[in-house]
Formats: sequence, structure tokens, C-alpha cells
Amino acid sequence: MSVMMAFEALPTRVTFVLVLLVVLKCSLRARRWTFAVLWHYMGLAAYMDWAVRSEKGEILHKAFTGGGLFQGDRRVLDVGSGDGCNLKYIASETTVTEIVCVEPNHVLLPALRAAAAHAMKQRADLTVTIFAGSLAEYEAAMVVSTASGATSQAKFDHVTCLLVLCSVGSQEDVIASAVRFMKDGTHERSSLVFLEHVCGQGLALQTIQRAVQPLWNLFGDGCCLHCDTGACIASNAELRDPKDGKRCFRRFSIFCGLLPIICGEAIREPHRRGAMGPKIRPKMRPKSPAR
Ligand SMILES: C[S@@+](CC[C@H](N)C(=O)[O-])C[C@H]1O[C@@H](n2cnc3c(N)ncnc32)[C@H](O)[C@@H]1O
Repeated sequence: MSVMMAFEALPTRVTFVLVLLVVLKCSLRARRWTFAVLWHYMGLAAYMDWAVRSEKGEILHKAFTGGGLFQGDRRVLDVGSGDGCNLKYIASETTVTEIVCVEPNHVLLPALRAAAAHAMKQRADLTVTIFAGSLAEYEAAMVVSTASGATSQAKFDHVTCLLVLCSVGSQEDVIASAVRFMKDGTHERSSLVFLEHVCGQGLALQTIQRAVQPLWNLFGDGCCLHCDTGACIASNAELRDPKDGKRCFRRFSIFCGLLPIICGEAIREPHRRGAMGPKIRPKMRPKSPAR
């Protein structure tokens, strides 16, 4: 009774905010709706896309063309496609002939379907398919048991993670799953192409990121502001840097330095004896615990 009286004494706006926070905390569906409204309908996706457009276009072009080496028929798995704002970059590369989009947020699917239809209208030789679910669910659906009891699944030339690894829960699991979807690298280059916002390098920015995190967690559909994604990619034993031993992660910031971003490409190690290339060695602090 006293709790009800305390609520009644609060101004309506404060009560609304408190109720909203409780609903977001308790309901995954509410968090997904809220994120979809912010991301797609209120233009956050378009703004983020605009802010990183040149770096994104550059890394995707470099990865999909292999510096002019690749002829065509590249298959791309786009993890966490959101509203499909990255399809315009991926579909504009003529070496790419098939894109599979994996997206678990059902509220974003109509926009993603529209972007996929638009991409296929622009290029008759392009196929875009959409899987409504997480990468783990896609992997479970794709793994086919063979008669011998072994398992196999469709392989891709590139897996793209664009502003996704911040909100997947376990980055290690999603990166490991992405690697399993990549061709083994014996004959052809197969890569993880990423552009991700990461933890700040200075103490001040790290403190701000951690202070904002509890609230942002509710509105950003589990997005973590202080992930050390570079270290996590580097720690995967099957991925290496495309340049010989040279760190190829590019680091830049948006929002006046408040949102540090890394982007680059990590190549899957060929499964051959003696073919191990140099490991990726990002100059970053040790990995933070996965959420
Ligand atoms: C910040 S949005 C980025 C969307 C898009 N890549 C872009 O750049 O606009 C992150 C997306 O990843 C999706 N996501 C989160 N966890 C995922 C998972 N385990 N597997 C696949 N997608 C996931 C979310 O639903 C969300 O749409």
C-alpha cells in the first residue's frame, strides 16, 4: 500500500520512465521493440551508417575484391543485418553473388526484407536470403547430419560483423561460429570482415562507458559499450592478420572521440601443416569479461 502511495505522489513523467525501465528490464520483446524504434524508425542506423560510411565502404570493397584478385561468385554471410542498411555496400560489389542475412529482431525484418528486395532489383545475378534468428539458431538449422554421423554446413567466403559483436552476448561463441561458417582457407581466402565500436583507451572514456552502460543496455538491446572486441577476435586461434605480422586493425572514433571503432579483416588459417600465418596482435588491453 505504501509503495502505491509513493507511486501516486510521483509526477506522471517520472512514473512513466520508472515503469518503462522496469518493463525493459523484464522483457526481451520490449527491449527489441525499443531498439528497433531507436535504430530504424528514429534514424540511429542511418546516422551510424553515415558516420562510418567511408571506412565501411573501404574495408568491404577490399575484402570482397581481394585487391582485384577475386573474379566472382563470393558468398557472404551478414551476421546481425539489422534493417539492411549494409546491403547497399555488399550488393554493390559485383564479385558478391549471394548474401545470407541473419537477423533475430523480428521488428527489423520488414525493413530488412525491403532492403533485400531492392538489392536484388538492382542486380539480377544477386541472391539475398534472410534467416530470422540468431547466428546460433542459423548454425543449428544449417548443420546437416551425414550418414556417417559427421556434420557439414554451407560455407561462405566472407562473414561480415558490422556493429554486431557489441550486442551478441558471448563474443567468443559468435566469432567461433562465424569461423565455422568460413571456408577453411586452404584454396581460397576466407575472411571475417568487421567494423565494431569498442572500449575506450583512456580511463576517463572507460569510466563514462561503464557509467552509461546499465541504461544503454536496456535501450540498445544488450549493446555493450566497453567490449574489447579486437582482443576477442585476436584470441581466436583460427584467425590471422592478412598482412604479414602487421596489425591491420584500423582504429578511429566518431561522436567527438566518444565512440572508438575498430575495423578490418581477419583471415581464416588454412588447414595445412606449416601454413600458419602470423597471428593478429592488436595493441589493446586484455579482454574484458563477456556479458
Ligand atoms: C547495432 S545492430 C547493427 C545492425 C547492422 N549490422 C548495421 O550495421 O546497421 C546489431 C544487430 O545485431 C543483431 N544481433 C544481436 N545478437 C545477434 C546474434 N546472436 N546473431 C545475429 N544477430 C544478432 C541485433 O538484432 C541487431 O539487429
